[in-house]
Amino acid sequence: MGRLTGRTAIVTGGGGGLGSASARRLAEEGGQVVVADILLDRAQKVASEIRATGGDAIAMYLDLGDPDSIRKLIDDTLAHYGKLEIVFNNGADTRPEFLERDAGIREMDMEVWDHTFQVNTRGTMLMIKHSLPALIKSGDGAIINTSSGASLLGDLARSAYAASKAAVNTLTLYVAAQYGKQGVRCNVISPGMVPTETSRKSQPELIKAVTRHHLTPDLGDPEDIAAMVAFLASSDARFVTGQIMRVDGGVTKAFAHVADNRDQFEAYVAGGSWGE
Ligand SMILES: NC(=O)c1ccc[n+]([C@@H]2O[C@H](COP(=O)([O-])OP(=O)(O)OC[C@H]3O[C@@H](n4cnc5c(N)ncnc54)[C@H](O)[C@@H]3O)[C@@H](O)[C@H]2O)c1
Repeated sequence: MGRLTGRTAIVTGGGGGLGSASARRLAEEGGQVVVADILLDRAQKVASEIRATGGDAIAMYLDLGDPDSIRKLIDDTLAHYGKLEIVFNNGADTRPEFLERDAGIREMDMEVWDHTFQVNTRGTMLMIKHSLPALIKSGDGAIINTSSGASLLGDLARSAYAASKAAVNTLTLYVAAQYGKQGVRCNVISPGMVPTETSRKSQPELIKAVTRHHLTPDLGDPEDIAAMVAFLASSDARFVTGQIMRVDGGVTKAFAHVADNRDQFEAYVAGGSWGE
C-alpha cells in the first residue's frame, strides 16, 4: 500500500514537465489523479500512461485563466471520484513566446502583466478557493503550490512572472494560517532550474549559465520536484504547513561569488593558500 492510497489529487498543468512527473509519482504512491491542463491532449497522454502502468488517473480540461473552467474541474473531480484530498497547483503560463515579452518594468506590457497574474496567481487562488470545501470535508487536505526561485531573488527579466510567484508564496502563508485548524495544510515548492522539454529548447544559454550557481553537481530533474510533492501530499508531512520548500539545489542559499570563486576554493582545499 502506498502513502497516498485512497487519496484523490488534482495536478494542474499536469501535461507539462514537472506536472506530469508529479502526476506519475502521486499515482505510483496509490493516489487517484486528475491530470488537468489547458492542453487536453497532453493531459490525456499522461493519464493514459499512468493507467497503462496500473495507476488510476483521468484527464480533464482546465484553463486557469477562466474561473468557470476552474469551478467545473473541481465539480467534475468530485463527480468522478466523490472526494478530493490533494491539490497540486503547478500550472503556469510558461510558453517561451509569452515569457519573452516579460522583461523590464519600464517596458512592461500591461497585457503580459495582467495575463501572468490572471493565470499564475488568480488561477492558483481560485483553485484553492473552490477546492477548500472538499479539502476541509476530507479532514486531511493538502495544498501544494508552485512558485519559483524567481520569487526570492532579483533578476533582469521576467518581472511579472516573478511577482506573480511571490504572491503565490504569500497566498500560501494565508491559506495555511486560515485553514490549518480545519485539517488543511498548505505549502509551496520553489523549484530551482529543472530543465524540461520546454525549457531545454527555449533557454539553453540560461541553463548553462545557471548550472554553475547551483550548489549540487547537477540541475534538478522533474522527479526531484515530484518527490517533494508526494511527501507534502502525504501524512509524513502532517506537521509541515506554511512552508516555502526550496527544491533548488541551494541556488538561492549562497552568494553569487561562490560560483566565481569555486576554482580558488578547490585549489585551497587541495593544499594551496586562500590567496590575497
Ligand atoms: N522547470 C523549472 O525549471 C521551473 C523552475 C521554477 C518554477 N517552475 C514552475 O513549475 C511549474 C511547472 O513548470 P514546467 O517547467 O513543468 O513547465 P511546463 O511548460 O512543462 O508545464 C506547464 C503546464 O501548464 C500548462 N498551462 C499553461 N497555461 C495554463 C492554463 N491557463 N490553464 C491550465 N494549464 C495551463 C501548460 O499547458 C503546461 O502543460 C510552473 O508553475 C513553473 O512556473 C518551473
